[in-house]
Amino acid sequence: MNYNKKTVKDIDVSGKKVLLRCDFNVPQDKETGAITSDKRIVAALPTIQYLLEQGAAVIACSHLGKPKNGPDPKLSLAPVAKRLGELLGKPVIMATDVVGEDAKAKAAALKPGEILLLENTRFEKGETKNDPALAKAMASMAEVYVSDAFGAVHRAHASTAGAADYLPAVSGFLIQKELDFLGGAIASPKRPLVAILGGAKVSSKIGVINNLLEIADTIIIGGGMSYTFSAAQGGKVGDSLLEADWLDYSKEMIAKAETKGVKFLLPVDTVCGDSFAPDAKSQVVKAGEIPDGWQGLDIGPETVKLYCGAVAGAGTVIWNGPMGVFEFPAFAKGTEAMAEALSKTSAITVIGGGDSAAAVEQLGYADKMSHISTGGGASLEFLEGKELPGVACLLDA
Ligand code: 3PG
Repeated sequence: MNYNKKTVKDIDVSGKKVLLRCDFNVPQDKETGAITSDKRIVAALPTIQYLLEQGAAVIACSHLGKPKNGPDPKLSLAPVAKRLGELLGKPVIMATDVVGEDAKAKAAALKPGEILLLENTRFEKGETKNDPALAKAMASMAEVYVSDAFGAVHRAHASTAGAADYLPAVSGFLIQKELDFLGGAIASPKRPLVAILGGAKVSSKIGVINNLLEIADTIIIGGGMSYTFSAAQGGKVGDSLLEADWLDYSKEMIAKAETKGVKFLLPVDTVCGDSFAPDAKSQVVKAGEIPDGWQGLDIGPETVKLYCGAVAGAGTVIWNGPMGVFEFPAFAKGTEAMAEALSKTSAITVIGGGDSAAAVEQLGYADKMSHISTGGGASLEFLEGKELPGVACLLDA
């Protein structure tokens, strides 16, 4: 995939109407609907501010949640419009629909330097089907399409990809930064490239492991999926998470790494608990020797030393997935030690979105990383080497 895309700087936007796809899919309090993290709104500000300063009239749009049957007041983007207005220090005009009478009238009346936010794009059934009629209707309100919705570039939807068929389409600064770091780490990494892969399940990381075995110099395995690898090597994993259907695959991956000369590091010891609970009784045992009635919940201290050593000599580190149950402080030490090691290395450090980003932020190391992706599913598909429709639709530089 070509990661070298035209950006808002490569196109004249002054005096033009710009359809800007953002990822305003923000977390909200279930009871009150209050936005619990405005990070995604903040991440879109540089592009919005740039467009407004250039004298563009910005027609912003996004999805929010997964509405099933058309408009759902609980999933309205109105709270986002309010927060965006506060952050920009100027009013954000809100449309009550996506491509209906209200949106069309407000878009037509929009002046340079003003911003309009359309309603949740998924209120339109055609959005997730990438319906060309919807894509065309959205595009017809504008003269340029800009996407800054990195978190949604793995979706081939009308607003993330389809609309680009009808307008000159470029990226915003957020997508550009994501492509620079994630793309750079994959396409031309400073070596050695060390990939740290954690998380609960092997089955959710197959594509990433397959792809990174072709690219990385070292792969480090942690988290729940390490117990399936351990069992594949004949280890005892007690009551740990185990995906019995993936034992053969795990064996194959270990063998493939050997053939390819990729170092494939697995835990040498494990912190296990007598239940899945923050106050579980714990003990450290050798990997593959987890007693019945106990389950692995974190990597052990010897593993931490081994993994930190690998990170220290890296040129680039990509991290996707925590090393243990970092939500429980007693079992967060492995994840924390890796975050600390990454904060000290001179390597370029790229953190995948989702759980890894949450862990690094929760543990207080966010500002020490070269880049933390804003996309969960999107960064995963990126690391899988898949073509991302929301990137592929943009003009090549
Ligand atoms: C995300 O939160 O990962 C993106 O906004 C994509 O959302 P989706 O999984 O509902 O498409």
